[in-house]
Amino acid sequence: MERHFPNTRMRRGRATRWSRTMLRETVLTPADLIWPLFVTDGSAVQEPVGSLPGVSRWSVDGIVTQAREAVKLGIPCIALFPNTQGHLRSDDGAEALNPDNLMCRAIRAVKQACGDDLGVLTDVALDPYTSHGQDGLVDGRGYVGNDDTVAVLVDQALNQAEAGADIVAPSDMMDGRVRAIRMALEMNGHPNVQIMAYAAKYASAFYGPFRDAVGSGGLLKGDKATYQMDPANGDEAMAEIALDIAEGADSVMIKPGLAYLDIIWRARQRFDVPVFAYQVSGEYALIEAGVAAGVGSREGLLMEKLIAFKRAGCAGMLTYHAPIAARLLGG
Ligand code: PBG
Repeated sequence: MERHFPNTRMRRGRATRWSRTMLRETVLTPADLIWPLFVTDGSAVQEPVGSLPGVSRWSVDGIVTQAREAVKLGIPCIALFPNTQGHLRSDDGAEALNPDNLMCRAIRAVKQACGDDLGVLTDVALDPYTSHGQDGLVDGRGYVGNDDTVAVLVDQALNQAEAGADIVAPSDMMDGRVRAIRMALEMNGHPNVQIMAYAAKYASAFYGPFRDAVGSGGLLKGDKATYQMDPANGDEAMAEIALDIAEGADSVMIKPGLAYLDIIWRARQRFDVPVFAYQVSGEYALIEAGVAAGVGSREGLLMEKLIAFKRAGCAGMLTYHAPIAARLLGG
């Protein structure tokens, strides 16, 4: 009987561990990770966030400890989000402009402790400071006004830069805010503060646990569909990204992550700035729920998702799993 051989044996390369290692196309390192952290008032406070098992809000001293841990693990950057006390929230979110607000105190403390070893990324948007939970100023008809909001966001970004933020990340999805913030940074002596634009941010169902963590969830009236994008749209994301780059963004972010790998891939093919993804709170919670339900190991479920972001073209990922992933990667 005549024997038949496959023309090509794809399995030859997979037959041994050394060969699989040698042929691996995508490599994940702790340097790919940005770690989002929640800040709260007080000292020596650690408050677990119920909807994000394993994640806590820390008072500023605890944030500094986490920041030092990030440096030790080889994580290059953290992102800070404040849980503003209720009595400091207002319709106009004025607390965002207070040079001594929780956020600025945390930025200063981390920069003092870690200096150049760790980048601090800050979110530019008013939702942790407003009594209505929207990212901007709401007019009489309930609409978040664009240009009025941009004027406040510029002052918020400057306030963060003055406190020492290395990257300001507008997450508000107003039109024209990247140019306005870039101009203000230049004119006020912050030429090296980077802008990472939440360029394609979708009106997603996956932000719920985050809103718990910053305390805006219960306050939010309505949704954010007049500024965040429709999950059905991809071409529109390319237009958003092109605008943010033209306005002066140094890097762009796609958010959420896993359900938008096509957007990451398209952005990477089309633009020459670094593309980041935010593996958001709901994605974190789903992985943890999967682990608890016995779907698989944390390492397995998490690392497969993180490598998918890299494979799709990400320069890096924001993930609440950053310290766990960094430890698994030997950081
Ligand atoms: C606020 C902001 C949100 C997130 C980051 N910045 C929530 C929202 O837009 O409602 C979500 C992050 C997450 O879910 O992990 N502008």
